[in-house]
Amino acid sequence: MHQSTSGWDHGLVGQSQEIAAIRRLIEKASANRLPVLLLGESGTGKEVVARAIHDSNPRGQFVPIDCGSLVGTLMESELFGHVKGAFSGAVENKRGLVELADGGTAFFDEIGDLPLEMQVKLLRLIQEREFRAVGSLQWRKVDLRIIAATHRNLNDEVAAGRFRLDLFYRLNVFALRLPPLRHRKVDIPLLVNHFLSDGQTSGLRGIEPNQELFDTFDAYDWPGNVRELKHCIDRLNALRSEGALQMADLPSALRHHRDMRGLEQLYGAVGFSDPAAGGLPDFAMTPKSPVISLPESERRTISQALAATHGERGKAARALGIGRTTLYRKMKQYGIE
Ligand SMILES: Nc1ncnc2c1ncn2[C@@H]1O[C@H](COP(=O)(O)OP(=O)(O)OP(=O)(O)O)[C@@H](O)[C@H]1O
Ligand SMILES: [Mg+2]
Repeated sequence: MHQSTSGWDHGLVGQSQEIAAIRRLIEKASANRLPVLLLGESGTGKEVVARAIHDSNPRGQFVPIDCGSLVGTLMESELFGHVKGAFSGAVENKRGLVELADGGTAFFDEIGDLPLEMQVKLLRLIQEREFRAVGSLQWRKVDLRIIAATHRNLNDEVAAGRFRLDLFYRLNVFALRLPPLRHRKVDIPLLVNHFLSDGQTSGLRGIEPNQELFDTFDAYDWPGNVRELKHCIDRLNALRSEGALQMADLPSALRHHRDMRGLEQLYGAVGFSDPAAGGLPDFAMTPKSPVISLPESERRTISQALAATHGERGKAARALGIGRTTLYRKMKQYGIE
């Protein structure tokens, strides 16, 4: 799909400048067969971009290779194949993932987890475009595009001796960094609608996202990035009652965050400058006294937290970042009911 207005190009949803820049880089990358390195936090869409680069100029197969799962003695054979009799159990010739990707794209996911002894073989594959199956003496030529991705900081990995500098240089020629979702929150509504319609195509009845939902999503930092947002929508799709959206269906991390927001809004509503606002005369401030004592400010904060959480002490304690017992003790100390 290539409808630039809808933000659907390459299956990469988003209307932020950051996504626009990524789309331009995908176009550039697809014009040649140089290795590409995709960096970015977990869940930012590295695999989506890898597939987009392949799909922009589709040749051969897209073969994902999970470097983290390549462990033990079979790893080399998984990657490069083996010949009959190479080791006990090698009863016939077997092709590896690299051969499968010949003519297409090999996607080395979590390249930072690739063991050092495999890194040297990957370097040879990139530089000489050849590999050798386990037990074979023959070097085989291949023509493939290599895309690698990692959420790790490869500079740190190099410094720690876990990643080869020469391989890093080779991969880093065309590096593309995926920004975290919290730096491009304008993309959230499009992504929400995208994931909602995904849910509908798999037979779920649609939910109506409302402003409260978008506000909550906008206030949250999404440490798990787009994947976390997708899971959240999947969960809402699965849990919603009668098509109506229940805030209680949100994952607890978001709900907790929302309580914090409620607190902030309350702070704003009660207003240190507007004593009449908020209908909570107990902690309306006199504008003439900009400084209040620490115990007094603590008393007010606790009262506000209790008001914001409708007296739910557990929630209030969490929002305040203190334990329940501490909250009770302080309530008693300040005579708060
Ligand atoms: N821009 C986007 N548009 C649509 N879907 C997206 C986008 N970015 C991410 N996704 C979706 O979010 C999920 C996570 O994306 P992906 O697997 O590409 O992330 P990743 O960077 O590879 O994460 P990890 O490092 O954890 O493997 C997938 O379901 C993917 O389809
Ligand atoms: Mg991934």
